Amino acid sequence: MKLDRLIARHRFMGRNAALRAIGAGRVRVEGGVITDGHTEVSRFCTVLLDGEAVQAAERAMYLVMHKPAGWLSATKDPLQPTVLDLIDDPDKETLHIAGRLDKNTSGLLLLTNDGRWSNQLMSAESKVPKVYRVETHEVIPPEAVEAFEHGFYFHTEDITTLPAHLVILGSRLARVTLHEGRYHQVKRMFHRVGCRVAALHRESVGGLSLPGDLKPGAWRAMTPQEIDSAMRSAPHA
Ligand code: URA
Repeated sequence: MKLDRLIARHRFMGRNAALRAIGAGRVRVEGGVITDGHTEVSRFCTVLLDGEAVQAAERAMYLVMHKPAGWLSATKDPLQPTVLDLIDDPDKETLHIAGRLDKNTSGLLLLTNDGRWSNQLMSAESKVPKVYRVETHEVIPPEAVEAFEHGFYFHTEDITTLPAHLVILGSRLARVTLHEGRYHQVKRMFHRVGCRVAALHRESVGGLSLPGDLKPGAWRAMTPQEIDSAMRSAPHA
């Protein structure tokens, strides 16, 4: 929300009066004086007017998890265990998943309560690369590389997939980089080249790789560098 709106709402003072108060240096955001009323402030910032609290900072959470296969990428389910059951934190109910994985997929999973960050990370426009290691039941045909680059038409969504980078690592093993995240996308793309996916593991999102110290089921808070690097592009593996 814009700072002037937040101040105006607090004291019912109207936006012009709020702008004047801000311009006069009476408002602090995270301890620093801000004089531009159009500054965006998130709910994770403390805001003071004349030293009085206008907004108390909410706790921002950014978690990285090594999702084990067999756990549901959901925050609630009446029947099955979800990845939230793996988290032991009093504020875990505020979390949502930034980019779900299928139940039988393992690897890098991000959870947060910052909707702006997760929307930006997962939006089609951001084109943040996601890298998956894929094991297949059938031998991967060499033509798959070009087919993935060219894209596949998905009738249900009426879209053609963005160019995906496929590296064949073995007769039934590959690494694929996607710049979008459609429903069962990796499985559907492999199906088009005659392969059923036997195992799927997400290795990275943007510039963030699954930390080597995280065993399946383990999680931890992300460092500020990790929060930033998830949004950045990484070179193809
Ligand atoms: N593509 C899939 O098919 N499944 C996932 O879990 C992620 C990408």
